[in-house]
Amino acid sequence: MARYLVTGGCGFIGSHLIERLLAAGHEVRVLDDLSTGKRENLPDSVPVTVGDVADPAAVDAAMSGVDGCFHLAAVASVDRSREAWLETHHANLSGTIAVFDAARRARGGGPVPVVYASSAAVYGDNPNMPLTEDAATRPLSAYGADKLGCELHARVADGVHGVPTTGFRFFNVFGPRQDPKSPYSGVISIFAGRIARGEPITVNGDGEQVRDFVYVKDLVRYLTAAMERPQPGAPVYNVCTGTPTTVNRLAEVLAAVAGKPLDRRTGPARPGDIRVSIGDPSRLVAAFGMACETSLEEGLRDTLAWL
Ligand code: NAD
Ligand code: UD1
Repeated sequence: MARYLVTGGCGFIGSHLIERLLAAGHEVRVLDDLSTGKRENLPDSVPVTVGDVADPAAVDAAMSGVDGCFHLAAVASVDRSREAWLETHHANLSGTIAVFDAARRARGGGPVPVVYASSAAVYGDNPNMPLTEDAATRPLSAYGADKLGCELHARVADGVHGVPTTGFRFFNVFGPRQDPKSPYSGVISIFAGRIARGEPITVNGDGEQVRDFVYVKDLVRYLTAAMERPQPGAPVYNVCTGTPTTVNRLAEVLAAVAGKPLDRRTGPARPGDIRVSIGDPSRLVAAFGMACETSLEEGLRDTLAWL
């Protein structure tokens, strides 16, 4: 049994991670500002400190005495990082440095491992599909630039301060508890919510943007495995399936799985939107011995059933 801090634990991915940690018998505490996360995503037994991950005092207090930290707190919306550049930078990069800094002295004055969320957004407009971890990073958004900054500071945490880190470049994650009501949420939750309610969906641009959708329950297994076996050298891994899906096709599959008609409208293309994003999962599978196996249809069925 270990004791872990999960930053952003009231959010979509965090709540699934915590479900898994509790099932394995671990003790969990959370630091979250509840900006997009919800207290009711977690059982009452999990202590939640409401605070800003970029506030060093709050992070130090939350980190005290833990065996490791899962760092998921961030403003996850690429679009929001365009509207609120400096504000999202504060949460997304300064918050990550605050976490690495506090991890230096978390347990008995010594360092503890940090497993953190990076993003496929670091690849930006790199056209070399599928993207391996060695592909050039060319972020298109403030969000992607800050996630790349997290990876660079993870190298400092490891090399200079002795804090073992593992970064995961999540591709497009979906599943139950991804907020269907927020305009800043992921495309699957927005489309699923609207299709289920019989409302129209808006496709940004021509809808031929390509994404690699990962089911959340597949993803959280890597986070716990990385915490159990920290490695030197601040490694980063793609978390992806390698399967491409266009936004148009996604809408059609969702409507078919929901058994509802599709009312599709066209909106303007989103500035800073990545055109094609497909990951190569080879390094992930080699390191952890498991692939993301849930099919898009299966994952969509679970997501719709939760709504
Ligand atoms: P989410 O919005 O559901 O979760 C983020 C959580 O962080 C929320 O609970 C929010 O309240 C909290 N938070 C935000 N700013 C904070 C701050 N300043 N201080 C404390 N807490 C704060 O989003 P998610 O999809 O669960 O994302 C989790 C992590 O995974 C994020 O780091 C995100 O960038 C990353 N990620 C997500 C995806 C995806 O497709 N969902 C893909 C790549 C990376
Ligand atoms: C998503 C994640 C981001 C993550 C990245 C990794 C969210 C909110 N964003 O960004 O955290 O780092 O994947 O790849 O989870 N779209 C529409 N109509 C809509 C909403 C979206 O057409 O109503 C389109 C977008 O323009 C985009 C695609 O769907 O082309 C995916 O958008 P979105 O779900 O916001 O994800 P990303 O921007 O890829």
